[in-house]
Amino acid sequence: MGKKFLALLTLLVFLGHNVEGLGVNWGDISSHKLPPKDVVKMLQENGIKKVKLFNNDETILNALAGTGIEVMIGISNQLLKDLVNPDVATKWVKENVTRFDPKSPKGVNITLIGVGNEPFLRDYKDTLTNVTGPALENIQNALNDAGLGDTTKATVPLNADVYLSPSWNPVPSAGFFRADIVDPLNYILKVLDKNKAPFMVNIYPFLSLFYGNGAFPFDYAFFDGVTNPLKDKDGIEYTNCFDANLDTCAAALAGAGYPNMTIMVGEMGWPTDGNPYANVTLAEKFYKGFVSYLAKGKGSPRRPGYLEAYVFALFDEDRKSTLPGNFETHWGIYYEDGTPKFPLDLSGKNKTSTLVPVPNVEKLPKKWCVVKPDVKNFTSLMSYACDRADCTPLTNGSSCQNLSDADKASYALNAYFQNQEQKDGSCDFEGKATVTTKDPSQGTCNFTIGFKSRTPLAPSPSPLPSSDHSSSSDAKAPSSSSASPKFLAFASSMGVVFLLSLFFM
Ligand SMILES: *[C@@H]1O[C@H](CO)[C@@H](O)[C@H](O)[C@H]1NC(C)=O
Ligand SMILES: *[C@@H]1O[C@H](CO)[C@@H](O)[C@H](O)[C@H]1NC(C)=O
Ligand SMILES: *[C@@H]1O[C@H](CO)[C@@H](O)[C@H](O)[C@H]1NC(C)=O
Ligand SMILES: *[C@@H]1O[C@H](CO)[C@@H](O)[C@H](O)[C@H]1NC(C)=O
Ligand SMILES: *[C@@H]1O[C@H](CO)[C@@H](O)[C@H](O)[C@H]1NC(C)=O
Ligand SMILES: *[C@@H]1O[C@H](CO)[C@@H](O)[C@H](O)[C@H]1NC(C)=O
Ligand SMILES: *[C@@H]1O[C@H](CO)[C@@H](O)[C@H](O)[C@H]1NC(C)=O
Ligand SMILES: *[C@@H]1O[C@H](CO)[C@@H](O)[C@H](O)[C@H]1NC(C)=O
Ligand SMILES: *[C@@H]1O[C@H](CO)[C@@H](O)[C@H](O)[C@H]1NC(C)=O
Ligand SMILES: *[C@@H]1O[C@H](CO)[C@@H](O)[C@H](O)[C@H]1NC(C)=O
Repeated sequence: MGKKFLALLTLLVFLGHNVEGLGVNWGDISSHKLPPKDVVKMLQENGIKKVKLFNNDETILNALAGTGIEVMIGISNQLLKDLVNPDVATKWVKENVTRFDPKSPKGVNITLIGVGNEPFLRDYKDTLTNVTGPALENIQNALNDAGLGDTTKATVPLNADVYLSPSWNPVPSAGFFRADIVDPLNYILKVLDKNKAPFMVNIYPFLSLFYGNGAFPFDYAFFDGVTNPLKDKDGIEYTNCFDANLDTCAAALAGAGYPNMTIMVGEMGWPTDGNPYANVTLAEKFYKGFVSYLAKGKGSPRRPGYLEAYVFALFDEDRKSTLPGNFETHWGIYYEDGTPKFPLDLSGKNKTSTLVPVPNVEKLPKKWCVVKPDVKNFTSLMSYACDRADCTPLTNGSSCQNLSDADKASYALNAYFQNQEQKDGSCDFEGKATVTTKDPSQGTCNFTIGFKSRTPLAPSPSPLPSSDHSSSSDAKAPSSSSASPKFLAFASSMGVVFLLSLFFM
């Protein structure tokens, strides 16, 4: 048997052996959610072993129980001020961590707790700066008291603009923490260090391109190498902005006295619509490069070796606020219906394997809603539909921008019709719309078909546009869990100047 058996064994070992350190963010700001049990099946079939949540939804946690998948749960920013009281933190841990029995094989393997989300965004105007550290400390102390401290670590997912390089020396080795948050940040670093917990930061090369407005060197956003690398001291050269950003963070930590603190990347990813740089081709290029980067285990010049990083995001989320940009609803490596957007080999071995889709999704029949040919004025129809469904593909630079006005109206009405799960009357629009079985998709513009959501739909407005829909209360829900204002703040902060200056010395 010898050789054959060994070969089989090797094969078995390699099957489902993914890049170590790769995790996914599973957000749920969606009008239609997939059943957590099916999503977890998909994670397992893809060999994904780490999941980051923005909350601690019980059904999701129950679905993850007994799988061994490592789970990071999140505490919302709104709760931070209450957690300054240690008793509240103790109760929180008891009810939301201990109860899920993290150390038992049957429990939920909660290894990380995100205390707040990007609390030092300038948009929050310091409302969270003084409460985040104490909240973090109290949560970790409560974990320690519960006997979980060795395996469950509390940390604070931070926006990359907490650190920067000086404009007169824009290299990673000159990185330091933002002056206005030095004290609260030092508090946090002390707690993290004492408990051997990781520092967590979100890094987005896409945003460097987005805010660079054409001035940011395109190639630096990927991992393919560049002709003109950024030169730092000691002969170190940077060929991508991810490494440069990570090492700026490492330098800032060293400067604060923590040269060895583990850095984890809480979010990184590439959206696929809503911006000229956001399409499936570029997202695939980015992720292929990134998975391969992780697989090599080389790390960055300052932080060689293993890196833990979480893809943002698993799914598109149609209810995210688009204030920061029209790409906000398109961050998924999967569409909202659980279909993968592009092939991705999570083993990092450059195979052409595709991601496994979410099982058991009930797609709706191949029916679309379009405006009738004789309709001339679409204004109110569109604004009604787009207040309630995702119309971002119609915006400038997006996949459906070149449609005729009538086709754009159809796109909007169809988005609403599918969002309503093709419910009777949801493609009427005062008799101006009709259902067709001929797919109106054209070019890059995908007239999507909806799916049956097994989670209850949010209360929906009447299917007929009223003359005064401005009073409707069902406008898109603002983002609550995942940080929506991050990009705005990022843009207005020195982060952009820094990222740009990095490559124009
Ligand atoms: C939790 O995940 C860690 C890291 O993969 C693993 O070592 C540990 O055995 C898991 N714990 C449980 C209870 O599954
Ligand atoms: C459990 O977590 C939820 C969400 O963060 C929170 O609202 C609730 O108060 C927590 N339970 C306790 C007992 O603190
Ligand atoms: C935070 O604490 C510092 C130092 O105690 C204080 O100067 C500052 O006013 C506080 N900021 C807020 C927003 O409470
Ligand atoms: C960091 O790690 C290095 C190598 O293990 C060690 O020499 C150094 O003392 C550590 N520094 C701190 C501040 O812990
Ligand atoms: C994706 O975006 C890039 C940059 O804007 C563009 O060059 C490329 O043609 C786009 N690809 C597709 C398929 O739209
Ligand atoms: C995968 O292929 C790309 C492009 O051919 C190459 O740059 C990269 O090094 C390869 N990755 C691995 C892990 O072999
Ligand atoms: C289209 O309809 C809207 C509201 O129903 C109205 O305000 C607008 O003037 C109309 N536009 C044209 C070109 O008739
Ligand atoms: C979209 O692009 C068109 C043509 O390039 C331009 O006229 C229009 O002002 C742009 N609209 C917005 C909202 O940027
Ligand atoms: C729309 O047309 C413009 C101008 O011809 C072109 O640059 C752009 O790539 C087109 N967009 C799509 C999604 O086809
Ligand atoms: C269109 O979008 C749906 C999900 O919204 C997806 O399942 C399908 O694969 C997409 N089709 C194309 C051609 O991109």
